[in-house]
Amino acid sequence: MPDAQWTDVGNVEDLKTKPLQQVLCGTTPIALTYKDGAFNAISGVCNHVGGPLGEGTLDGDYVVCPWHYWKFHHKTGRGEPGYEQDQVPSYETKIENGRLYVDLSSATKRTKQAHKPHPLARPIIRLAGPIRVVGISTTVMTAGHPRYSGSDALLETALGHARSELHLETQCIKLRDLSFRACEGYYSKSAQACTWPCSITQMDSTDQLDRVYEAIVHWADVILIATPIRWGNASSLYYKMVERMNCIQNQETIANKHLLKNKVAAFIIMGGQDNVQGVAGQLMTFFSEVGCQFPQFPFIAHSRGWSAEDMERNVLEVQNSRELRDGARALVARAADMAKLMVGGQLPEHPLARGGRKAHQLDSEPTG
Ligand code: FES
Repeated sequence: MPDAQWTDVGNVEDLKTKPLQQVLCGTTPIALTYKDGAFNAISGVCNHVGGPLGEGTLDGDYVVCPWHYWKFHHKTGRGEPGYEQDQVPSYETKIENGRLYVDLSSATKRTKQAHKPHPLARPIIRLAGPIRVVGISTTVMTAGHPRYSGSDALLETALGHARSELHLETQCIKLRDLSFRACEGYYSKSAQACTWPCSITQMDSTDQLDRVYEAIVHWADVILIATPIRWGNASSLYYKMVERMNCIQNQETIANKHLLKNKVAAFIIMGGQDNVQGVAGQLMTFFSEVGCQFPQFPFIAHSRGWSAEDMERNVLEVQNSRELRDGARALVARAADMAKLMVGGQLPEHPLARGGRKAHQLDSEPTG
C-alpha cells in the first residue's frame, strides 16, 4: 500500500453547498459529490476526451460529463450499466476539524472500455478512379411540392455535364431531404469537446448529416455548392450545414489534422435580389478555412438587384439563360481540372500548424 497522501480540499460547510463540483487536489482535478450526507470523490477527467466531470450534473448516482454526457458512478467511478469497464479513478475522503481531505494515493485504476469507432473516423484514403463531384443543394422548399429553383437547375446542369461530357463520377445531395440537427455548440464548451466525427453524429444515429461528411471527407474531389440568396446571405440550410462542419475546421486547430485534402470547392449563387459578392465572400472564406482550393473564377452567380421584386421574371431569366447554363458547365470543368492537378500530386502540400491560428498558451512565452 502506498503511503496515504491526504490533501486538504477545503472547508466542509462550504463544500456541502454544491451536490457536484470540480475541485483541485494539489494539481489533480477531482469531481467531488455531496449526496445523502456524504462526500465522494472521483477523477474530474472524463474517460472520453477529458471533459471536466465535476462541472457536469448529477443524475441519481451518476456524474454526467458536461461535454458528451457519459456517466460515471459518483462513488466507484464506474461507467453506467453496459459501460462498467469504463472506469475513472475514485478516491478515499475524510473529514477532520471541519476540513475535507482526499487521499490521492488511494486512486483506483482508470480503465477504458473499447468503443467501436464511428465509420467516419476511418483513415481518409482516396480510391483510384475518375474525379468525383458532389453537388450540394442548400435550397429549401416544401416537401412533396417541388418548385423551380435557379440554383438547383444550374447545379443539375453542372452535374449532368460532369457525368456525360467530362466522364466524372457525380452525386447530388439535397440538404432539404436530410434530417439533421443544428450545431449545438460543443465547441463553445471547449475546443476539445468539438470532435471528429461530429459529436452529434457520434451520439445520434438518426442524424443524417453523416451523408454530407461521408461525401466531402471520404469521397469527393470537387464540392459544388448551390445556394439562393436570402436576405443578402446564403440559405439557412447552408449555414446549418457549415456550422456542423466546425468539427472539420476544428481538427486543424486542435490536432493539426487536415480532413479535406486535395479538395476543390466551387459555388453557384442565384439571387432574386442583391449581394452576390457578400455571399461569395462568405462561402469562399469558409471553404478556404477548411483547406479547400478554388478553380480560377470559383463561382457563377446571377442577381437582378435590390428592387427586382418580380420573382416570376427572375425565374424566367434563369430558365432561359444559355449563358448561365454554359457558365455552370464551365465552372464544373474548371473545378475538375484543378482537382486533377491536386489528386495527381502536382501541387505541393504546405502543412500549416493549427490552420494558421496562434495558440493562446504561447502568448506569455518570451520572444527573441
Ligand atoms: S463525454 Fe466526457 S469528454 Fe465526452
